[in-house]
Amino acid sequence: MSGSPQPLIVAVAGSPRRGGNTETLLQAAVQGATEEGAQVEWVRPNLMKFVACQHCGGCSATGVCVVQDDMQAVYALIERMDGMILASPIYFGSVTAQVKALIDRAQALWVRKYLLHRPLSEDGKPRPLLFLSALGGRSRGHIRAARTVVRAFLNTWDGEYQELIFPRIDLEGEITEHWTALPQAHAAGQEMAARLKHSP
Ligand SMILES: Cc1cc2nc3c(=O)[nH]c(=O)nc-3n(C[C@H](O)[C@H](O)[C@H](O)COP(=O)(O)O)c2cc1C
Repeated sequence: MSGSPQPLIVAVAGSPRRGGNTETLLQAAVQGATEEGAQVEWVRPNLMKFVACQHCGGCSATGVCVVQDDMQAVYALIERMDGMILASPIYFGSVTAQVKALIDRAQALWVRKYLLHRPLSEDGKPRPLLFLSALGGRSRGHIRAARTVVRAFLNTWDGEYQELIFPRIDLEGEITEHWTALPQAHAAGQEMAARLKHSP
């Protein structure tokens, strides 16, 4: 296992609201990561064509999803990536439906890890995940529930979990009025890239 001078970070923009609060956070994190030399691939579930998991069993012997849609590109990215930054607002105490559909398709990765005991890729490297979120209210239950979903996603591979979640952020663009949110997201992206560059 060795660090890469140009780690690959997958940036998932999980809100349907373009330029909204979580996408603004994500842009700040991506900016930090690229300043540190990372290469970034964007994934926009809201613009992609894929179905939610059909529980068809097509992955049960191989850990490879047989459904040929836009998720195939995401699987390929997850296998290649060094880390992920996942941005989603909290919708009804979870991530958005678009992100949840993407996460459910990680069932193939779950099968690979837990049933077939096969690593995601030959290198077996950990892939950290940074969760960026905002919610209009401040319900701890909603935050806890969304965190549980994202951590379950991360558990389909392995890596460190980190989060920045901002309550009481509702109106479009409101995150820019928060004193520390964007610098925090920028620093978190920068730190992720720096750690990936220097990982042993
Ligand atoms: C369908 C929907 C469901 C929402 N559910 C919640 C919720 O459960 N709890 C909460 O605090 N805010 C909720 N919100 C508010 C959003 O989390 C909030 O507006 C957030 O800042 C939106 O981020 P974005 O600009 O990145 O889309 C919801 C908003 C929508 C549109």
